[in-house]
Amino acid sequence: MRLDGKTAIVTGGASGFGRGIVDTFVAEGARVLIADRDTEGAAKVAAAQGCDWAAMDVARADDWAALTERAMADWGRIDVLVNNAGITHLPQPMEEVSEEEFDRVLTVNAKSVYLSARTVVPRMKAVGSGAVLNVASTAGVSPRPNLNWYNASKGWMITATKAMAVELAPHGVRVNCLNPVAGDTPLLASFMGEDTPEMRAKFLATIPLGRFSTPQDMGHAATFLCSDEAAMITGVGLEVDGGRCI
Ligand SMILES: NC(=O)c1ccc[n+]([C@@H]2O[C@H](COP(=O)([O-])OP(=O)(O)OC[C@H]3O[C@@H](n4cnc5c(N)ncnc54)[C@H](O)[C@@H]3O)[C@@H](O)[C@H]2O)c1
Repeated sequence: MRLDGKTAIVTGGASGFGRGIVDTFVAEGARVLIADRDTEGAAKVAAAQGCDWAAMDVARADDWAALTERAMADWGRIDVLVNNAGITHLPQPMEEVSEEEFDRVLTVNAKSVYLSARTVVPRMKAVGSGAVLNVASTAGVSPRPNLNWYNASKGWMITATKAMAVELAPHGVRVNCLNPVAGDTPLLASFMGEDTPEMRAKFLATIPLGRFSTPQDMGHAATFLCSDEAAMITGVGLEVDGGRCI
């Protein structure tokens, strides 16, 4: 029960890595609020785990304001925020990604962190404690070709994590990020372009431990970084990547 009594918002908790984080957080004693634009999926996970859910688009300031108010009304404090919801453009040469697609990726992956900082972070500062975890990617550390603007959005997230960590440390708020390697979630097909055995083998060949990451891997790493066991850890980007970035 490493998160016993803690309250946690997990964006994108209806699927993939977010779901793994929700499952582990609940098992470790946290009270969890899933925030996702997929209302059906969020309701299903919440029912399975006995936690709460809210419809939200992480790219919308109004949604962040409403989510924060809801969490404060329900709990009175927000101990943990996991900025996990994210999207990608399809693999293609950088100059072929449309401006619309670029804006969408940057708004969901990067601006969402800024928006969360405007609503959730002040609540953490007010009580002098909190843990923020951004789900970035190995893409921000060791980019693959043809995912250029996705890679850059995750690099932004890693720098935002460090910048937030140094500014928020005097306020007792820790900020870290996870850098997952390719995981077998619904998003994987978008990274690969085509979900074929050959393409999977190509991705796997770059991971020394020889497998894709799992939602459970993210759940375990997230639990550690958001728990009091990591009380001296802030500004860290933790690769959960089977050695891919070595
Ligand atoms: N799967 C991978 O290979 C991989 C690798 C590295 C990093 N990541 C990152 O991990 C995070 C989770 O990815 P995943 O693989 O679990 O994806 P996923 O598609 O399985 O789940 C993403 C969840 O986020 C939600 N979401 C998307 N846009 C949203 C928005 N605007 N507002 C609210 N909710 C939104 C979706 O509804 C979904 O429930 C992402 O940030 C992704 O970039 C994934």
